[in-house]
Amino acid sequence: MGNATQSPETPQNTTTRPRISFLGCGYLGATYAICFAELGYEVVGYDVDAEKIDSFSTGTVPFHEPGLPELLKKNLESGRLRFTTDVQAVADFADVHFICVGTPQRAGEHGADLSYIEAAVTDLSRHLSRKVLIVGKSTVPVGTATWVQEIVDRNAPADLGVEVGWSPEFLQESNAMHDVLRPNRIVYAAQSEWASKLLKDVHRGIMELAAVEDREVPVVETDLATAELVKVAANAFLSTKISFINAMADLCEVTGGDVADLARAIGYDNRIGNRFLRAGIGFGGGCLPKDIRALTARAGELGVGESFRFLGEVDQLNTRRRTHTVGIIADLVGRPSGPAGPDLSGVRVAYLGATFKPDTDDIRDSPALAIARKLRASRADVVVYDPEGLDNAKSYAPELSYVKTLAEAVEGADVVCAMVPWEEFRTLDPEALGQQVAERRILDGMNAFYPEQWVSHGWTYRGIGR
Ligand code: UGA
Repeated sequence: MGNATQSPETPQNTTTRPRISFLGCGYLGATYAICFAELGYEVVGYDVDAEKIDSFSTGTVPFHEPGLPELLKKNLESGRLRFTTDVQAVADFADVHFICVGTPQRAGEHGADLSYIEAAVTDLSRHLSRKVLIVGKSTVPVGTATWVQEIVDRNAPADLGVEVGWSPEFLQESNAMHDVLRPNRIVYAAQSEWASKLLKDVHRGIMELAAVEDREVPVVETDLATAELVKVAANAFLSTKISFINAMADLCEVTGGDVADLARAIGYDNRIGNRFLRAGIGFGGGCLPKDIRALTARAGELGVGESFRFLGEVDQLNTRRRTHTVGIIADLVGRPSGPAGPDLSGVRVAYLGATFKPDTDDIRDSPALAIARKLRASRADVVVYDPEGLDNAKSYAPELSYVKTLAEAVEGADVVCAMVPWEEFRTLDPEALGQQVAERRILDGMNAFYPEQWVSHGWTYRGIGR
């Protein structure tokens, strides 16, 4: 690979850096591959999906992640970054292989599907011809690392002594680049001094960038089981925090309280903290929902299921938000729910937001989209607009109507549902919007507006838990 042009923010490469591969070029692997090239490492990204690899190789990120396309192009040009479907080339190239493939929920069950990990590790192991370190990054049930080592031992030439380590990731979609380049902690587990040193070298680029910026990145070096558990523990804790504040939202609704003020007030206590306390339509995405289910399932297998029964409630409380929100909308348009749900025929809904959160095009387990589908099932005429998620939403929920602009969505609407806190929605002007709709009714599913402002412009305002 060619000589690197260092960006002002990239520290000089003063030490030997291991060559790195990332197996699986989804949100996780691709972002890591691009960011590690940016940190000065020579990197290859691998995936079995030729279309995806073509896309990255020609400078196109096939999903929406702010800043990533620019960084991809820059690092392809630097010569430090390439993408391939050739596992032999990957096996020959890298000293450290990160496993970043998906671990979705198994169909019809709560446990995680580890078949992509099995396939990637088996394939890689069979092509190895020197000692390397294989590091798991995918979110997995505890015990997976040991199982991965067994797969490696069965498939890689025995004399190589290939080792498995684990290093969970904590990146949030829409903030992914920042979370990789400037993580708030690094966690890893190694089984030998050799592996521990290699993992230190792998993270040196992050440490050097932090030093240049006068920051510290705490490192937790631990055992394999703990490294696996850290990730699911973090996601379970965040999910619990959100469901907790949503339970308080229910209580606020029946007592006339305001959950946004309540969250702000408890959040000032830094033992509690103010993040992940935004009440609303509940959490979604490709991680939190499936991770709490997989954790509960694994705890059950290990005989400590009882201790995790509360997570089942965290999950159900979250799912109930969806029916609850439909009820609020029905109420808002004067069609209160009967036992079979509301009849919303003839109600034109301007539906703002389809993704599971703003600044992504990801619709996996999106609460907004699930609620839109429920409204449609109640015969409402649902017109959806989303800044980035329309294509994905359209193929997943073809029964809804989709429009390319906010103006088209709100024209003649009986109710506006602002569901995902995209900047474009948070900055809506009540008076200008009021000119376009048929009825001034708004559901603030984002809890992002000042209610008085809307009320003063003649709107009937409903938030969630306020
Ligand atoms: C989540 C974690 O935050 C990451 O740390 C983790 O690395 C990642 O999963 C993963 O396992 O790979 P992500 O799924 O990108 O990241 O999304 P979040 O930003 O955590 O949001 C999850 C959901 O919670 C969204 O639907 C969001 O709208 C909702 N949320 C978030 C709330 O309802 N209230 C809040 O206060 C915060």
